[in-house]
This record gives sequence, C-alpha cells and structure tokens, in this order.
Amino acid sequence: MKISVIGCGYLGVVHAACMTELGHEVIGIDVDSDRIALLAAGTPPFFEPGLAELLSRSMQTGRLRFSTDISEVSGSEVHFVAVGTPQLAGSDAADLRFVRAAVDSLLPQLAAGDLVVGKSTVPVGTARGLADVITAHGSGATLAWNPEFLREGFAVKDTLAPDRLVYGLDPGDGRGEGTLDAVYARALAGGTPKVVTDFATAELVKVAANAFLATKISFINAMAEVAEATGADVTQLADAIGYDARIGRRFLNAGLGFGGGCLPKDIRGFMARAKELGVDQALTFLGEVDQINNRRRERMVDLAKEVVGGSLAGKRIAVLGLAFKPDSDDVRDSPALDVTLRLIESGATVRATDPQAVETARRRFPDVDYVASAADAAEGADAVLLLTEWREYRDLDPAAFGEVVGTTAILDGRNCLDPVAWRSAGWSYRALGRP
Ligand code: UGA
Repeated sequence: MKISVIGCGYLGVVHAACMTELGHEVIGIDVDSDRIALLAAGTPPFFEPGLAELLSRSMQTGRLRFSTDISEVSGSEVHFVAVGTPQLAGSDAADLRFVRAAVDSLLPQLAAGDLVVGKSTVPVGTARGLADVITAHGSGATLAWNPEFLREGFAVKDTLAPDRLVYGLDPGDGRGEGTLDAVYARALAGGTPKVVTDFATAELVKVAANAFLATKISFINAMAEVAEATGADVTQLADAIGYDARIGRRFLNAGLGFGGGCLPKDIRGFMARAKELGVDQALTFLGEVDQINNRRRERMVDLAKEVVGGSLAGKRIAVLGLAFKPDSDDVRDSPALDVTLRLIESGATVRATDPQAVETARRRFPDVDYVASAADAAEGADAVLLLTEWREYRDLDPAAFGEVVGTTAILDGRNCLDPVAWRSAGWSYRALGRP
C-alpha cells in the first residue's frame, strides 16, 4: 500500500520504518528540515535499539522516503497523523496545535477513498471534530483513530508485533476497517487481537492504558513511602503481591518513578479533559498519582543529603543515568535529570553520565558537568546516585568501582542493584523503600 506518515518524531519515524518493513511504500513528512535531512541520509534523529538497522534496511528498498513537502503525500491511500501533543505551557491540557495543523495541511492532498489515521494521543472528543473537518472538505476521505502503544526502548518490536490493535471508526465504516486490516495484515495473521470501536473509546483506550500504568507505578511507590516509615522492604512486597496473577509483577518496580514524554503529560491531559467534561471527580486520584511520583524525586535528594551528612553544599555527587528510562536517550520529564538539577540547586558538585542521553541532556541544560563514563563521574565522589537502570550500571563490579570513589556510598534510585553484593564489597547501600 502507499502510505504517508505526517510527523517524524519518535512515533512517526518508527512507524514509517516499520510500515516499510511490512512491505508498504512510505513517505514520511515533517516540517523540520534538519530532521528530514538526517532521515533522508538514513540517520535516526534519536537513539532507539534496532532503529538504525531498520531504517537503513528500509531506505535500501527504495520504498521509504522523507520530505518536508506535504504535496508528496498525494497518491498515498493511508495517511497516518503521528505528530506530538505536548503539555500546553501553563496548563495541564494537551496542545493540539500540531494535530490540527497536520490535518489542515493534508486536506488539499486528500482523494476519495483515502483514509486519514490518527495515531497521536489526543483528548477524547478530538477525533470527532477532525472527522467533521475532513468530511466538510468534501474530498471523500474518511478518518480512523488507531492509537499507538509503543514503548521507547522496544518501539520497533511493539510496532511490528503489537499487543493489540484498536480501530476507532465511524459506525459502519467497513471500508476504513478493511484498509487498516490490509495495513496490519502481518500482525493480524500472527494473532494480534483487534478491537473495533468508536472514536471516543479508541481515544480513551490510549489514555486509560497510560493512566493505569502510571497508577500502578505510583501505587508501589506509595507502598515504598510506607515501607520507609516501617523498615519494610518494598521490593519483596512487590514480588509477593506480584505472584497474584490478578496483580502481576510487571510495572511494580518502586524507585524514582515515571517520567518521559507520555505518562506524566497524559495523566495531566486526561484530568484536564475530565474537568471540561464535568467528570473531574472521576480522575482526582490521578492528581495523587502525579504527586506520589514527584515526591520520590524529593525523597531521593533528601536521602542523598542524609548520606553525605546533612548538607549537599560542596559535596561531590556522581550521577549515573540521565534518560527517563534505560535504552533511550529521551530526557523529557526525566526523573534522573530532575534529581540532578535539584542536587545542583542544593549546592552539590555533580558529575553526571549516561550511555546515550548526555547530548540530549546537554541541549536542555548545558551547564551541568557531563562526563563520559561511570568511572569518570565517580572519581573522588562523596556518594554515587544510580538514577536510570542501564544494564552497564546494573552490571558494575562493586569492588572495582569502589576503588575510584572517595566514599563508598551508593544510592540505588531504581532498586536494581544487589544490596548484599554491594555491602559485602564495603559499600554503604541505600535505596528507596528499602531498609
Ligand atoms: C509509555 C507506555 O508504556 C506505552 O505503552 C505508551 O505507548 C507510551 O508511554 C506512549 O504513550 O507513547 P514509555 O513512555 O516508553 O511508554 O515508557 P514506560 O516503559 O511506560 O516507562 C515510563 C516510566 O515509568 C519510566 O520513567 C520508567 O522508568 C518508569 N517505570 C516503569 C517505573 O518507575 N517503574 C516500573 O515498574 C515501570
């Protein structure tokens, strides 16, 4: 099929490359000419495992192109809208400017039978309005809402073999369903479940899923707060409740909490939309979820203070990890970067490192002292803070690592190290939610 993807951010680039991998002919469009130049040269504009290889393979087929010229989408029968919906400055609501602009720019290019497919995360009710705009334009094109559930770090796999496909369609739009089935033929043949529903449900599935995941993380972090007050161990608690299949162990890792470009802004946008709809009470708990999450960052800084003797002023702190999660260079709303900045504000001398996210962090906060490796960060440090659980940090040898630091004190912000191994190598080990 001939497919266009509007918006070459995280979602759009991965989607475009994966659609090519599935055999389609794809044009990716973005207004950012630097980004398009990189992509046209086969270079991913961000770090995502497997993407560089996939992109170069896709470009070699000759079926994947990138352009800033929207008129190049004409002739495509499916147009994915994959632009960002960031949090509006000064408000909790989502900024829909880019989605509206993408649809407006598509209108003159659309032909009868074309399907515009929304992938961006939007407040419930948005798709209905966009469908009306497309209908009123009179091209004969229609809209489907097909939310995306990919996780950074697993984006390629999640796109090629998703857990489920959700199609939000106008009632009786069998043609739209048929088109999406053709796009996703391989995943469907492989047994991926499909939910065909209305626009509002499809939009809600996306934010409800992210709200649930955020709630699960904040639940276990709330238990960590209680564990800290009682001497209990939140990681054992998570293991024990996780054995109950109704609860499940995944997404019960207590620590610094959630960040990134999705969970934090999505729960806030969801609350803002519920307020507009007059059902804000239904989601007030998400405000607590957000607050629990932010309290973990404060707690980490307090713990660092405690470990270095009460004040961070003049203390040398090594920070391992800046990305919001491992296998990503994304620092949007990153708990690790936030803690780093708070440490600096408290007077600490921080040396920070990350296997992939130093450059993305530097672009936002150029004044932080970034270094290339864990050993560089730790040299002479009064304490080491592990803030993103990259494999290379989880695999650190406590004995060898202990030789470079000033004081063998480690704070495990992600509960990812073995306290016994670190303590027996002479370290003082502290973690969130553990004695
Ligand atoms: C999230 C969802 O998991 C995806 O399904 C969704 O498609 C995506 O948002 C989106 O809306 O685009 P992502 O932001 O890549 O994906 O990251 P997650 O794997 O969900 O992790 C989010 C944050 O939660 C990270 O900061 C991570 O460190 C933290 N986390 C995760 C925990 O603190 N504890 C856990 O047990 C799991």
